[in-house]
Amino acid sequence: MRPTPMRVVSGIQPTGNLHLGNYLGAIRNWVRMQDDVAASGGQCLYFLADLHAISMPHDPAELASATREMVAALVACGIDPQRSIVFNQAQVPAHAELQWLLNGTARMGWLNRMTQWKDKAGKNREGASIALFTYPVLQAADVLLYQTTHVPVGDDQKQHLELARDIAAKFNNDFGGGSEVFTLPDPIVPPEAARIMSLRDGAAKMSKSDLSEMSRINLTDDADTVMQKVRKAKTDPEPLPAEAAGLEGRPEAQNLVAIYAALAGTSVADVLARFGGQGFGAFKPALGELLVEVLSPISARFNALRGDRAALDAILADGSGKARALAAPTLTAAYAALGLAR
Ligand code: TYM
Repeated sequence: MRPTPMRVVSGIQPTGNLHLGNYLGAIRNWVRMQDDVAASGGQCLYFLADLHAISMPHDPAELASATREMVAALVACGIDPQRSIVFNQAQVPAHAELQWLLNGTARMGWLNRMTQWKDKAGKNREGASIALFTYPVLQAADVLLYQTTHVPVGDDQKQHLELARDIAAKFNNDFGGGSEVFTLPDPIVPPEAARIMSLRDGAAKMSKSDLSEMSRINLTDDADTVMQKVRKAKTDPEPLPAEAAGLEGRPEAQNLVAIYAALAGTSVADVLARFGGQGFGAFKPALGELLVEVLSPISARFNALRGDRAALDAILADGSGKARALAAPTLTAAYAALGLAR
């Protein structure tokens, strides 16, 4: 059932702000793929993973408005709802339905190995929600529902994508009767920005759940805030090396140079050819200015859009209708393969 044109699907949780890790690791690729894929007759679907958001304690009053804000942020980054299908899971019940059907195929042992489950549940596994444990099965349903060929994500989602492939392969094998009910999707991870790290700790990834605002650059930060966060970013006392090998064992320096390279669309080697031998006193202001140059048009568009509730709701209503139609044949095929009469 693999479609010949590309079918691109990816999602983001509508909790907290869109940060630089989301942008460089995933959203920038969503925008790039939207042009190529549409030109080749394919289809991109980008969604707000609101069903995933309930796996952790959350405030119901905030979830709907955070979902709308995330739509505004995606459009501000360059996602065009005319060309890409933009929706939220809660309006496409097929996601939750397919998750249940896949629960019969996913194995406890597979889910127990998920590093995100181990990190988020921590020592309190008994107290973690069941949704947090089965979260990767919903993520598998998200992509398998659309016969997805490619999934643009950051490095931290690669393991979940591997699991989606394992579930698809086992389901096809056990219930496909010789045909492929599901397509096996490939992840697309940008090599230059696969894992953007915290500005306070080069060993932790930049994340919405970090308690320190200083650890991340939000796409909505104003120029002064961006410059201040970069100025205060943790570094070491050495000047920058002339070659990439000199960044070994210097995770904070490595992260800042990688961010510069990703933003400038150049390589780490090129950045070091320019800044090698100089200290952070020279490099940090240059990085801050580049960040402001890239982020300020995005934050201006975001601020113009975020208050237009009717327009944002209309994007989700339109996208959800299209997603429901695209999801229907695969959901029907999955019910039939399992021998479920409806
Ligand atoms: P989420 O909301 O945590 O992140 C959204 C996207 O941003 C990427 N990302 C990063 N990339 C590089 N460096 C970082 N520091 C960084 N932080 C986040 C993530 O890899 C992701 O691509 N489970 C997913 C949402 C999801 C999904 C899906 C994704 C639900 N269903 C189906 C793809 C396909 C999540 O929580 O992403």
